[in-house]
Amino acid sequence: MPVTINTFELENVKRIKAVALEPSPTGLTIIGGRNEQGKTSVLDALSWALGGEKYRPSKAQREGSVIPPSLKVTLSNGIVVERKGKNSALKVTDPNGNKSGQQLLNSFIETLALDLPQFMNATPKEKANILLRIIGVGDKLYELEHREQELYNKRHTIGQIADQKTKFAAEMEHFEGVPEIPVSASQLIAQQQEILARNGENQRMRQHKEQCDRELEQARQALDEAKRRFAQAQANAATAAKSAEDLVDESTAELEQNIAGIETLNAKIRANLDKAKAEEKAKEYSDQYAALTAEIEETCKAKYELLHGADLPLEGLSVEDGELTFNDQKWDNMSGSQQLRVATAIVRRLNPECGFVLLDKLEQMDTQTLADFGAWLEAEGLQAIATRVSDGDECSIIIEDGYSVTQKSESPAEPKTWKAGEF
Ligand SMILES: Nc1ncnc2c1ncn2[C@@H]1O[C@H](COP(=O)(O)OP(=O)(O)OP(=O)(O)O)[C@@H](O)[C@H]1O
Ligand SMILES: [Mg+2]
Repeated sequence: MPVTINTFELENVKRIKAVALEPSPTGLTIIGGRNEQGKTSVLDALSWALGGEKYRPSKAQREGSVIPPSLKVTLSNGIVVERKGKNSALKVTDPNGNKSGQQLLNSFIETLALDLPQFMNATPKEKANILLRIIGVGDKLYELEHREQELYNKRHTIGQIADQKTKFAAEMEHFEGVPEIPVSASQLIAQQQEILARNGENQRMRQHKEQCDRELEQARQALDEAKRRFAQAQANAATAAKSAEDLVDESTAELEQNIAGIETLNAKIRANLDKAKAEEKAKEYSDQYAALTAEIEETCKAKYELLHGADLPLEGLSVEDGELTFNDQKWDNMSGSQQLRVATAIVRRLNPECGFVLLDKLEQMDTQTLADFGAWLEAEGLQAIATRVSDGDECSIIIEDGYSVTQKSESPAEPKTWKAGEF
């Protein structure tokens, strides 16, 4: 069972002359009164009684009092806490009547429950971290956020490279009507060699004809000595002459032109290939960018699922960009009453053994919000002792000039305990 406050009696602490109260075991107990009457002094005194020396007010003894402060708080676990005497020394008595000390109190008292402003004034990141710690997903979320940041950075760089590459590829020259791969000069040279070889053969045949002519001439001169040889030579010469007549030389002019143009052509082909390669690179980076975007979306989804699968102290709480949110609003966008509710819910979870919380300045809640808040506290089994500038029915006790009016009046009435639904 979480520990709550059963009763307290306070005298001569700060603005308090004498205040005693038996707060409601769960739900809201409101200490009302006009300004500067001693309401906050009651909470300060309780913080000091339960939280120890670090909560001692700078001027703990009421001005004008010759009697030192006296504080007595009885808790639902039977422990009695007292401070009295010249030094306001702490006395903690357990249910068996044994003496104990601050350490025992610290084991079940959540200091933020005594000092809610400490939570309310924490940075947005600290608040988020407290929430993540109590729902036990801090490490995993940190990992996901770290991963998400890494992906964002990587995608940013890839995006820049993709843009550069696309721009570079677009600016490169492209030639229409040229082959897709560079032309080989050796093929053309081989063709040229073949033609030259054939022409060489022609040349040889021409020389052969000349030889025959010479022989004819010799034969003519030797006509007398070899008529038969002359006739033969004449026939040979005629045949050779006929063969020579049909011979036509092939031209290498076109090939020579092609060889001359090959370098220009290949330069264009290489330019086209370079452009195609650059376009491919640009596409590679664009694809990588798209893949990273998909991965970022998945990380965000994992984060969302992690938080929404956790056991939250209050419905609507979450963490976005490392900041605590309630119904998607960051702390500075929450209303004062929402801030109080969020803070109470979170602080409650910090130490489940601590069943109460002290709340100052509840006047920022209207009566409807107050009723809703009271009902929520009751449902949570949480005791809240709060102050409010008011003397309305919602107050369990009114403080006037350091006294609870019930104590001040002639015929003391029972202190009222406010319950949800009474408005
Ligand atoms: N040791 C002290 N002795 C006498 N008066 C003190 C002492 N310490 C503070 N005060 C006075 O008590 C008043 C504040 O008391 P407290 O904060 O309890 O009032 P409150 O009812 O909460 O007022 P508010 O509605 O303005 O918050 C101030 O006027 C302050 O000067
Ligand atoms: Mg006050």
